[in-house]
Amino acid sequence: MNVTIKPSRRISGRLRLPGDKSISHRVAMLGAIAEGVTRISNFATSQDCHSTLACLRSLGVSINAEANHRVTIQGRGLSGLQPSTRTLDAENSGSTIRMLSGILAGQRFTTRISGDESLQRRPMKRIMTPLTEMGARIEATQEDYPPLTIHGGALRPIRYELPIASAQVKSAILLAGLYAEGETTVVEPILTRNHTELALRGFGGEVHTAENTASIRGRKKLCGIEITVPGDVSSAAFFVGAATLVSGSDLFLTDVGLNSGRRGILDLLVEMGASIEISGNRLHGGEPVADLRVRPAALRGGKIGGPQIPQVIDEVPILSVLATQSEEGMEIRDARELRVKESDRIRSVVENLRAMGARVEEFQDGLAIPGRQRLHGAAVKTFGDHRIAMAFAVAGLVADGETVIEGAECAGVSFPNFFSVLEELRS
Ligand code: S3P
Repeated sequence: MNVTIKPSRRISGRLRLPGDKSISHRVAMLGAIAEGVTRISNFATSQDCHSTLACLRSLGVSINAEANHRVTIQGRGLSGLQPSTRTLDAENSGSTIRMLSGILAGQRFTTRISGDESLQRRPMKRIMTPLTEMGARIEATQEDYPPLTIHGGALRPIRYELPIASAQVKSAILLAGLYAEGETTVVEPILTRNHTELALRGFGGEVHTAENTASIRGRKKLCGIEITVPGDVSSAAFFVGAATLVSGSDLFLTDVGLNSGRRGILDLLVEMGASIEISGNRLHGGEPVADLRVRPAALRGGKIGGPQIPQVIDEVPILSVLATQSEEGMEIRDARELRVKESDRIRSVVENLRAMGARVEEFQDGLAIPGRQRLHGAAVKTFGDHRIAMAFAVAGLVADGETVIEGAECAGVSFPNFFSVLEELRS
């Protein structure tokens, strides 16, 4: 599907974003292995989260998903999952395959799990190494890529120092830790989003966190919860970016999740000069939530790297688009992980910015983007990557002429109605 984006004069109105993708995955998985019922409101509309629900159903979990984004899960307890007769299909979702593998490692049966072409190119050794150390046996293509065949069973607790900063890997280990007798500890090189720790606590898990370590006591049963999922801040980022760039804008975003490991994009934009008023700070299911008002502003630009990167890991495509319109431009380093996301996001951004006539320098671990650049409407590719599709839709709002997003349907991986919502808010 091709979507054409025309230049915009204003982004305005009020928007409640779909539920957070990261949180929805976690509460669905924990709901499945808890005792009793879990009731989730504002469950993510994201296709990725529906891949998680489909995998859980294949493991014998009864799930009722209603049109109003309410999901009810009949928990089967820690040991109640059933072997699947089919290969589980995580489709495009790295979170599904990596985090669910942690749970599957603790089951007394074998599961095969795979995904689409993009997922079959994404590295899994990062979860295989710690889960194998805990006692699972896992086979993979070239010892790194899906399909994974996971022979689960009795696990032992470990203390594991993550070689790369990854919330997905941290989560896989903590979830496996639920099945190990004793305490499993993960040490992070740089802090990443702590949704798993917060959700585990909400379900009654015994989690301890201190500085950059998180520990879980195994074999403790979890209890079903009721939760309203906060709006997805990574989806909000596209609209925050659009309202910042488009001159006549005034946009309200309500119930946005502001987890300490996710709000980095907002803090960074404010530091760069963005006008983002945050009000009504509150908690939803242990997660911080607030409302945002965004008005246009000039962005200064700057340099980011090191510990800042995991805080904005999913927002680099939109940040790169914003950088072209900033005063000083931006340099983004230490972001090599972007090369193994849904697409090679460094390459995808570079190709599309160049297609729109912008200058950009590519590094192995990032990019340098000069500021004050004029973007020209062009045909851009999504590379099957939802965040590239949405970032370049925002670029199209400030480009001259028309921008055609080729393969725009992939936005549904995180935000199925993205283009119609953008259409409603723009003029
Ligand atoms: C996610 C963690 C991040 C992020 C992904 C979702 C999560 O991946 O890029 O979109 O929900 O834990 P890594 O943990 O691999 O960096």
